[in-house]
Amino acid sequence: MPDSRVPRLRRFLVCEPRHFAVQYAINPWMHPDTRVDVDLAQEQWQALIDAYRTHGHTVDSVEPVPGLPDMVFAANSAVVVGGRVFGSLFHAPERRPESGHYDLWFKKAGYEVHRPGSVSEGEGDLVPTGRYVLAGTGFRTTREAHREAQEFFGVPVISLTLVDPYFYHLDTALFVLDDGDDTHGGNIVYYPEAFSPGSRAVLERLYPDAVLATREDAMAWGLNSLSDGRHVFIAPQAEALASRLADHGYVPVPVDLSEFHKAGGGIKCCTQEIRS
Ligand code: ARG
Repeated sequence: MPDSRVPRLRRFLVCEPRHFAVQYAINPWMHPDTRVDVDLAQEQWQALIDAYRTHGHTVDSVEPVPGLPDMVFAANSAVVVGGRVFGSLFHAPERRPESGHYDLWFKKAGYEVHRPGSVSEGEGDLVPTGRYVLAGTGFRTTREAHREAQEFFGVPVISLTLVDPYFYHLDTALFVLDDGDDTHGGNIVYYPEAFSPGSRAVLERLYPDAVLATREDAMAWGLNSLSDGRHVFIAPQAEALASRLADHGYVPVPVDLSEFHKAGGGIKCCTQEIRS
């Protein structure tokens, strides 16, 4: 089974953590008195980029802007499906200016950007699976934005309610292991208790073969992973989950982003995928 897993090569958009810091608290992981080691953060981030490139993925980057310490979390600034860009409108006023900088990058790269009319934090909450867009709400992205994304993409958007403040973005509680298409849903990993009972039932129905994660896996940032269908770029702290994924034939690639955990972010948060 292990060798039957085939990677799909991706194009990613990232932002160097040159101005990364924890200066405000907008999720339970953040404490404004936390000191971030910017050199270590840069090294950790570079190791992630190197790991992507080593595995054949393409990485583009947006120039970081002073005064926007969370801009490194590229996932939050848009979600791109079929070359169509659904931009972001951040919940926190501190992060709102990030959107314009990402929009500009997309425009220069030849894309049109749709600006959402209500709070929407890109791939943090809108997770394309190939067949659907799984969509989180409860803390950041609104249900109104889910409806808007469905109209924009013409892809079924499945609204899921998040209930645990530690897992405030969908990408902290769930990730796509295998892309689906029009005939099958692919597969995901998720932490069931991060969801309302009804949303949990929806996930059970859509993904009967999902890999289920524990609170420990989730607290260790194991759900903020990125899978290319074969390699799973995953926090080394989530060792138990990584070894369960290896049992399923995936190849875990550990990348430590511990400095970013202090801001409530990890591997997936630092990575946006440009789906052509
Ligand atoms: N400090 C950032 C915030 O709270 C972290 C964002 C993490 N990104 C993610 N995709 N979960 O907005």
